Amino acid sequence: MRACYLVLSLLAVFVAGMTQKAPECGRWYTILDEIQANLFNEGRCGNQAREAIRLTFHDGIGRSAALQASGRFGGGGADGSIIKFAHTELANPANDGLEDVVYALKHFADNHNVSYGDIIQFAGAVALSNCPGSPRLAFHFGRPQAIAPSPPNLVPSPSDSAEQLLARMEDAGFTADDTVALLAAHSLAVQRTIDPSIPGTPLDSTPGEFDAQFYLEMLLKGTAYPGKGHSSAEAKSPMKHEFRLASDAAVARHSSTACKWQSFIGDQRGLQASFRDAMLKLANQGFDDLVDCSDVIPIPRRSNRLLQYPTGKNYSDIEQFCPDVPFPGL
Ligand code: HEM
Repeated sequence: MRACYLVLSLLAVFVAGMTQKAPECGRWYTILDEIQANLFNEGRCGNQAREAIRLTFHDGIGRSAALQASGRFGGGGADGSIIKFAHTELANPANDGLEDVVYALKHFADNHNVSYGDIIQFAGAVALSNCPGSPRLAFHFGRPQAIAPSPPNLVPSPSDSAEQLLARMEDAGFTADDTVALLAAHSLAVQRTIDPSIPGTPLDSTPGEFDAQFYLEMLLKGTAYPGKGHSSAEAKSPMKHEFRLASDAAVARHSSTACKWQSFIGDQRGLQASFRDAMLKLANQGFDDLVDCSDVIPIPRRSNRLLQYPTGKNYSDIEQFCPDVPFPGL
């Protein structure tokens, strides 16, 4: 009888532990319902979701060890400065295309009295959960409001060389491997501002899915520009309806990143885990005492697509930059 009581008690404690939610997280469930319904069109992986994912980066990258050491700019990072100081930061051409999501999230944050840094990272994690194949990101809240706008030139440019881009990322606290992993966000991306004559052109053939298709297609030989092709931010793409950012092509081909890049082809789980860890760094570095509300983030759907060469392409179209490791068979 006593043994039975003990088992039941343990079971009760276990179930309570499974279902208990941190009381401070309660309001985030309300915000979740509101942004899914009113910002993300009932939980879609659409334009607004993509903008929200991009915004996590454009806010979080606003930190610099070099500026901090010189005493010119401390702190920063995912502090919501892109919303608090929207007039200043949105004037930076690197932030073109983020206006709508910045003002939409300001409205949600003000209504619920949460900080701009928190709402940006929350919306990004929720947006990603709407896209099949994504990892489930962690979410912590408690970032104070920003006290200064981010200085110019901290957001990497698509015209940057791989060396410039990797140096900027390192200055913001990211290893070369982190950078390769973070670029998985471009597996969901489209461009609108680099060549405005072809708005909505995707950066890979499956922009509705978080997958390694982006990493595979980036290594296909570029043959033509899908639009006007007059920008240093653009590289030739392998397909008519696909856009290739010069910076993505450069990182895929640089000697310090090419093997990491190739390693993600055929390794969806590795890609998910590396992206999740790098996003945690992006969202949380520089902040103490954040409260873990990761349970609020919905579990993303799995992607059932198999990695494959686009129609008409095969291994002979691949430019391999990781010489010592055989190219993954598909
Ligand atoms: C590291 C260097 C990066 C560069 C140079 C870069 C550059 C760009 C550019 C030029 C666009 C097209 C914007 C437009 O024309 O509308 C874009 C789109 C996008 N980027 Fe990045 N990006 C970088 C990293 C990242 C990271 C780390 C993330 C997220 C974690 C990210 C998320 C996105 C998303 C989701 C889009 C699509 C936006 C939309 O459809 O509205 N990017 N990026």
